[in-house]
Amino acid sequence: MDRLTPHFLSVGLRTLLALQRRPLRGLHAEALREAAQLSLAPAEAASEVEIDALRAALKASAETIQMQDFGAGTQAGLLAALAKPDERRIAEIYERAAATPAWGRFLFCLVRALRPRHVLELGANLGVSAAHIVAALDHNHREGGEEAHLVTLEGDPTLANLAREHLVPTGRATVVTGRFVDTLPEVLATRSPFDLVFLDGHHEEAATLQYFAMIRPHLAPGACVVFDDIEPTRPVRRAWKRVLTEEPSSGHADLLGLGLWFAPFAEADAKVPRKASAAVQ
Ligand SMILES: C[S@@+](CC[C@H](N)C(=O)[O-])C[C@H]1O[C@@H](n2cnc3c(N)ncnc32)[C@H](O)[C@@H]1O
Repeated sequence: MDRLTPHFLSVGLRTLLALQRRPLRGLHAEALREAAQLSLAPAEAASEVEIDALRAALKASAETIQMQDFGAGTQAGLLAALAKPDERRIAEIYERAAATPAWGRFLFCLVRALRPRHVLELGANLGVSAAHIVAALDHNHREGGEEAHLVTLEGDPTLANLAREHLVPTGRATVVTGRFVDTLPEVLATRSPFDLVFLDGHHEEAATLQYFAMIRPHLAPGACVVFDDIEPTRPVRRAWKRVLTEEPSSGHADLLGLGLWFAPFAEADAKVPRKASAAVQ
C-alpha cells in the first residue's frame, strides 16, 4: 500500500469516497473529491519535481545522525526524552518515516482544495510531508489567496534542524523543537485558530486523544484534522473511532489508513461535553 503510485492511490481514494457509509456533504465533499483526483497543473508538477529532488537527496544520503527515538510505541513520551540517542542513517529514516510520494501528492492536493491559512503538523521528521504542504500553501497564495503558514513540531533536535534547512527558506514554515506535550500549548496559544492539522507522530491511542483534546478548542470552524495511521488494529484507529463517537463534527472520511475529521461550521453545534482523555507524559 505504501508504494502506491499517485494513479492507483487516486483510484483507491475515489472508490473509498464513493463507498463512505456517511458521505461528506457540501464544501468538504467537493474539496475531497477534487483532492482525490491527485492531478497537477504544470506549475504544480514543477513544485513536485523540486520535492522529488529533496527526496532523492535524502534517499541517497550516506550521513548518519544521533537521534532520539520519538517514534511510535511506549518510548514516545518521557522515556524517549531520557533515552540515549541512537545512530541512524538519514536514508533509513526517510524510508521508514516520510510520507510516500503518492501520499505527499494527496496532502498537496488537499491543501490546494481546502485552502487553509494556518496549518499545524505534529511530526516534522525530515520535513517531507511539510514540503508538500508548504508548496501547496505557496500556490494558493500565488493565486491570490491570503498569506498562509505551516507550524510543524518535532521532538528530535537533529531532525528538526534538517527539516528547518529546507522549510525555513520558503518563508512559509516554522519548525518547533520539543515534545508535543511541551510545545503544543504555546503554539496553540499563539498561532491558532488552525484550519488544517496533520497528526503524524506519537501514534498511540491515549496520546492521540490527548493531542486532539488540546487542539480541538483551537480549530477554526469547519477545520480539517487528518489522523495518520488509522489502519485496522493500529492504536490510532481506536483514538479515531472515539473521536468519531464523542466529538460532534461536520463530517469525516476514512481513507486507506488516513482519517479526515471536519470540525462543525457553527460553534453552537460543537457544544457537547467531551470526555477527558488520559494525560500523556
Ligand atoms: C512518522 S514521522 C513524521 C513523518 C513526516 N510527517 C513526513 O511524512 O515526512 C513522526 C515524527 O514524530 C516525531 N515524534 C513522535 N512522537 C513525538 C513526541 N511525543 N513529541 C515530539 N515529536 C514526536 C518523531 O521523532 C518522528 O520524527
